[in-house]
Amino acid sequence: MSLKIIGVGKGIPKKGISNNELADFLDTSDTWISSRTGIKNRYVCTNETLTDLSAIAAVQAVENADLSLSDIDTIICSTIGGDYHTPSLACCIAERIGINCPAFDINAACSGFIYGLEIASGFLSSRKAKNILIICAEILSTQMDWGDRSTCVLFGDGAAACVITEGDALKYISLSVSANSSMINIPAGTGNSPFIHDKADGGFLRMQGQEVFKFAVSTLETEIKQALAALKIPLDEIDYFVLHQGNKRIIDSTRTKLGQPQDKFPINIDRYGNLSSASIPLLLFEMLEDGRLKTGNTVFMSAFGAGMTTGSCVFVWE
Ligand code: ACO
Repeated sequence: MSLKIIGVGKGIPKKGISNNELADFLDTSDTWISSRTGIKNRYVCTNETLTDLSAIAAVQAVENADLSLSDIDTIICSTIGGDYHTPSLACCIAERIGINCPAFDINAACSGFIYGLEIASGFLSSRKAKNILIICAEILSTQMDWGDRSTCVLFGDGAAACVITEGDALKYISLSVSANSSMINIPAGTGNSPFIHDKADGGFLRMQGQEVFKFAVSTLETEIKQALAALKIPLDEIDYFVLHQGNKRIIDSTRTKLGQPQDKFPINIDRYGNLSSASIPLLLFEMLEDGRLKTGNTVFMSAFGAGMTTGSCVFVWE
């Protein structure tokens, strides 16, 4: 069954950090960060929890959909790591906003929003749900090694939410994994189990940046071609390419290869950094808020992330 997005919301921490502010305590510079990545600013949690940000985004999305919280019958939360290992962030959000319905987390890293859409489609098809809240929420500032300038400058914290219901907007969706656990990972550690001899600490995000860059550039081009072939539509029929905001140079390289104009590739990485799974729904929020995204527009979305996961979809906006 197809679906449509009927409400969007966002939850962003109060504290913004510019590249120059990072350079006050890290061996880096605004020139390096902005020229290599397109990032100028990011937001980080100080006294907010991920549940706080997610609840703000969730309530706004439900209001924006003209629904009541009691109309929501499933919560799917995409996160690399919530406020607890357990309970899930989805359960924490349900408690905070005061609703009881099936609620669970998924971890597909930066592709989590697209994975969430596919799961939502299944729930709608089986008539298990009518109004599904997908919340993508990430607190990457707590998962970075702030002594590693090659990763900590790239990410930010934030949440974005969408209300999904039955509709005809989703025309195509594709999920895949090119299995590789070393390109990007956050080690879990062995805890204090007395039975494990080779103890390992939990750790921070590690990334083979150049390998991820190459993976992303080749994957995005392939994903776009596959979607166009499946739908039998020409490239020019796509009004917007809403791509994961991992690095502006990845987006620019894809755009140049396809020979498409800049305004078809919206970005928010300059203001938020890489928000993992929250990047794409936050972009949708912004495009709806400023009126860029209109009924009838054809939108291709694609994300890639740790795993290495990939998810792509095409909407004709309703
Ligand atoms: N400031 C200044 N210098 C730096 C910094 C910094 N913040 N970070 C690295 N450098 C230096 C390095 O030490 C190196 O110096 P050297 O030449 O003296 O050794 C030099 O800059 C070049 O480093 P590279 O790692 O080769 O830089 P590169 O041009 O590859 O850019 C980057 C690194 C930005 C990480 C890029 O590879 C990238 O964006 N990769 C993709 C990341 C991505 O999209 N991730 C998305 C998925 S994330 C997820 O799933 C959670």
